[in-house]
Amino acid sequence: MVDPDFVQQDFQRRLREIPLRGMGLSVDVYSPDLFELVNKLRERGLSPGYLEVFKATTTALTTVRQAVPGMPLAYHGEGLWITQPDVQASPFFQQDVGEMITQLNSIQSLWLNHECAMKQMAGYSFGTYVPPLYTPLSAEVVADNIATVQQAMDLQGRRVDGTAPLFLLELPPLTYFAAGTIPIPHFFRLVTARVPCGLVLDIGHLWTVYRYTAACRQVPLEQFVQEFLDEFPLDRVVEIHVAGLACHESVGGVEAGEGLPEWLDAHAAPIPSILFTMLEQVLAHSGLVSLRAVALEVDTKPIEMIVEEYAEAVRRFSLLVQQTMARGRAVEQTGLAPRPASVQEPMCQSDRQQLRDDYARYAQIISGQVPITGPEWQEVAAEVSGLTRYRTSYLPHEILHWGGDLAEMFPQTCRALAERSICLTEFVAFWFRSPRPLTHSYDFFLLKIERFLQFVTERAPEVRVCVQSEGDMLRLAYAQANEVGEPVMEMERTR
Ligand SMILES: [Fe+2]
Repeated sequence: MVDPDFVQQDFQRRLREIPLRGMGLSVDVYSPDLFELVNKLRERGLSPGYLEVFKATTTALTTVRQAVPGMPLAYHGEGLWITQPDVQASPFFQQDVGEMITQLNSIQSLWLNHECAMKQMAGYSFGTYVPPLYTPLSAEVVADNIATVQQAMDLQGRRVDGTAPLFLLELPPLTYFAAGTIPIPHFFRLVTARVPCGLVLDIGHLWTVYRYTAACRQVPLEQFVQEFLDEFPLDRVVEIHVAGLACHESVGGVEAGEGLPEWLDAHAAPIPSILFTMLEQVLAHSGLVSLRAVALEVDTKPIEMIVEEYAEAVRRFSLLVQQTMARGRAVEQTGLAPRPASVQEPMCQSDRQQLRDDYARYAQIISGQVPITGPEWQEVAAEVSGLTRYRTSYLPHEILHWGGDLAEMFPQTCRALAERSICLTEFVAFWFRSPRPLTHSYDFFLLKIERFLQFVTERAPEVRVCVQSEGDMLRLAYAQANEVGEPVMEMERTR
């Protein structure tokens, strides 16, 4: 049995190593230009307390480290699907963890932030995050996988002060639906009772939890937030994120005339004022005692908008953030004596297999291959419009246009297919027709190329030479761009 007190003390011991960072920005190396952004902020007399940098090439991250030597950096990871019961058996898991630790070391990050979400499950791949199944078994698997990653960081993390980076698990966004048998805050309680990780509370993601669960039809937003925070393990929240929200381009971007808009997480979009109201409510909660940092997530956003929003956020919240962090420090001083790192018992194989089957059904349900069945889908079935929107608009857009538009990637092949009356939407059905073994670490762009080649070879074999030649050119350009650390077209925007 895992002793939750033991786990909590382990967390406290790790938290004490993390200094207060205050307000900062969560950014991407490539978009917008990071150095131009830092300069523009300086011109306005603004200096972020830290920059959280999204996963990039190690070369690019090392360049950032050298270019802003005095700036504390933190790391936003990607591609470790810790929600998945079979992730540790993946042939790429060790390699992905190793690369991530190299990157953490290269920027001397105090933490690894990772979404509690995935883009691959049971052999099916997606372009954007899908939330986990909110069930007790799923929480157990998440905790077990985090423990493995934390152990690797403890062994190989190389910070000059001798401390290891802490795993921070982020509350993921909902994209029109959530499946599970337990409330989302309860799920995070189960995870944190088993593993000494910290949490990232993303305010925009929290808004989508309200919007795409029954809560929005039952209680006002303020009451939802209060009840959520009372149940959520707020004492584990080390960092807060705030980012933009917007209607998705696949549904025309039209905001609802009545009721709540159908916004999704959108880092390039402006931050709506309602999120700052929610931030105020979160910072005022007495349970928030481990806070170290608050970041606006601004990757892909125009620099002028970032500077304006950050200036306004600092003006409005920096004192409140300082007070909240100080309140937490006072609680820590009276904390218990440190104890050694906790040890997890491995999960049994049949539980992992059960959850793997649940995730296979999950992928098949949300891609429309099987009808909605199972206890974790009851609430979704009761209000099915969200899942329908995801399946019929959002997901086809993701496969056909997002992270690389097929018609732009393969212009000659697409023309040849059109001449044969083969509609590209057939590719969406092909993509989800059956699970497929993974052939490399997750990369949506390379996956698109690989699957499109398979699709065209099957559907129009006479076009095979053409699609192969276009695919080879794309792969070459992509490899070259990654070598020099620069994006090609819009194809790397697969976050
Ligand atoms: Fe976030």
